[in-house]
Amino acid sequence: MHSTSLHSNFNNPTQFVEGWYWALPSKELKVSKVKAVTLLGRNLAIYRGVSGEVVVVDAYCPHMGAHLAEGKVEGDGIRCFFHNWKYDSHGICVDVPSFGKPLPVCIKTWHTVEKYGMIWVWVGEEKPNLLPFVPELEQVDCDYILGTRFVKNCHPNVLLINAIDAHHFNTVHNLPLEIVFDSQTINSNAITFSNTTRGGDDSWLIRLIRPLYRKEVTYSMCYWYGSTGTVTLGPDFLHFYIIFALRSLEGGKTEGQTILVTPKRPGFWGWVLNRGLLCLTQQVGNYFAKGDTQVFQTIRFDLKTPTKADQSILQFIQHVNHQKALSWGTWHTVNYLNIQTPIGQEKNGFKI
Ligand code: FES
Ligand SMILES: [Fe+2]
Repeated sequence: MHSTSLHSNFNNPTQFVEGWYWALPSKELKVSKVKAVTLLGRNLAIYRGVSGEVVVVDAYCPHMGAHLAEGKVEGDGIRCFFHNWKYDSHGICVDVPSFGKPLPVCIKTWHTVEKYGMIWVWVGEEKPNLLPFVPELEQVDCDYILGTRFVKNCHPNVLLINAIDAHHFNTVHNLPLEIVFDSQTINSNAITFSNTTRGGDDSWLIRLIRPLYRKEVTYSMCYWYGSTGTVTLGPDFLHFYIIFALRSLEGGKTEGQTILVTPKRPGFWGWVLNRGLLCLTQQVGNYFAKGDTQVFQTIRFDLKTPTKADQSILQFIQHVNHQKALSWGTWHTVNYLNIQTPIGQEKNGFKI
């Protein structure tokens, strides 16, 4: 049982925030191939037409319910295996062989985009909002590699909190500096938490890297739809970027994929340097993933006793609860107002 109200989004396995979700890596879908994907409890068929464009449709054929991933891609459309009805890339029926002409039926299609080597699907009723990005790299052409794909025994919201759990950086990851976050809302679906401290002058590590940066060491996390987090990390002259793309599985478990990103650098040596940097980024990501592995197997998240160091976590919970929710499995809008934490309330001597 999750700890928060059934009516709020945060850590709730029965609903999720309307938004962009990763479906599968681009390279796993070749031209003229179709794959079955279950995303947030709904079954989809995802195919790549001859033009290279990806099309995402509901899985079941409107004729008799055959799974369209059993079918064949034909041009930029898909033909059902069972009775060979064909649907174009807008999901409109364009051929019923036994009937000699199409019937006025269609399959539901979903908005999709390919970025950072991933196929993303807009899960929502309204027009798509922005695709998740690293704030510093919004307009920048990037190189990327996919890192690890993983399943964790807790909800994506809970896993993502780890990146702004300031206190645990010292206790779990032995980071020799105090991290204090400042938040900045980007839009109703995105919020950034950035470290504001220089701190830790007495440690040898900080003294060693201090000449490399002017201000604080950059560490910031930008959350999108409460499910994808983009981390920016490093001294002024070299920032590492890691995207944690998560989605919830049945029962509120997490299926995730890390994506390592770096701005494109010119020429052959730029390419070589970027391969090296992306591998290094992966090591950085692994370092932080390591210490927490076990706790996410057994945690029953319940922030009963927040302290000042947990302030950003409370802010994130509020941010998630303010977003539009859909039901896991059906993707229908959740039709009640989210219960939100009252702002300005005093808890343990500090304001949330
Ligand atoms: S079930 Fe698809 S064509 Fe009959
Ligand atoms: Fe951690």
